Amino acid sequence: MGCVIGIFSAKGGVGKSLIATNLGVAVGVGQKRSTALIDLSPGLGTADVLLDLKPERSWADLLPVMDELTDKHLQLAVTEYGPGMDLLACPPGLLDDECLGRENLASLLDVFREKYQVIFLDTFSGWGSVNRAAYLYADLRLMVLTPDVPSLRSTRRYLNSIPEKEITAGLVINQNSPGAAVEPQEIAEHLDLKVFSVLPMDPNGVWSNVSYGQPCVLRKNSRLGKSFRRMAKKVLKCVDR
Ligand SMILES: Nc1ncnc2c1ncn2[C@@H]1O[C@H](COP(=O)(O)OP(=O)(O)O)[C@@H](O)[C@H]1O
Ligand SMILES: [Mg+2]
Repeated sequence: MGCVIGIFSAKGGVGKSLIATNLGVAVGVGQKRSTALIDLSPGLGTADVLLDLKPERSWADLLPVMDELTDKHLQLAVTEYGPGMDLLACPPGLLDDECLGRENLASLLDVFREKYQVIFLDTFSGWGSVNRAAYLYADLRLMVLTPDVPSLRSTRRYLNSIPEKEITAGLVINQNSPGAAVEPQEIAEHLDLKVFSVLPMDPNGVWSNVSYGQPCVLRKNSRLGKSFRRMAKKVLKCVDR
């Protein structure tokens, strides 16, 4: 049975999609585990761009067959990034957040768990119905934030409103730098959660990733890429537990 790893955040623009795509590539291509990435945004996701893919289908195409979903349906809906790594893209236009509710996501993940060893969920910020369902079904929940006061406050409010707070696995502090407003340790204490990973602020590493869809995790000398490779190994330890 595949393991579902949800990447969440209170605030937008903190790096969820960058993290989800690079981890997907690190685990699927680098570590050769069969991996899927699902872009759960109801229309504004960027996972395809970050991977330089042009998906012809998205999860919206699966909505009419959710009650009878099979492996064949998945095969038709996903876009291959490389051997061992597939993307299920977000719809090409904005849909109502309600359309992929709890039951639909449960059906979708049941079939994904059968087919893949590791399934990453790239979510969008906030607490809409898709995100609630994703939070419920993820086996490992990673909460991404940047080391600044607005991000810290949003994350605290978010965590305070989640009844299942105690099962959030850990914090991912992204865009960290020596001059950051808040230290990782202070963030962990303030939010009363463990730090899963700290990723550096690395505009150079990100540049060709966001401009040309070349995941920095594939570049040997990228500082951020190295951090993603380390993080992917830690994720796999949780998967294998
Ligand atoms: N570690 C990092 N170093 C430098 N820039 C980063 C880093 N992580 C994210 N960014 C910048 O933040 C932007 C938003 O990231 P993205 O993954 O789209 O956030 P989200 O999915 O949370 O909205 C990226 O396009 C990139 O320019
Ligand atoms: Mg995103």
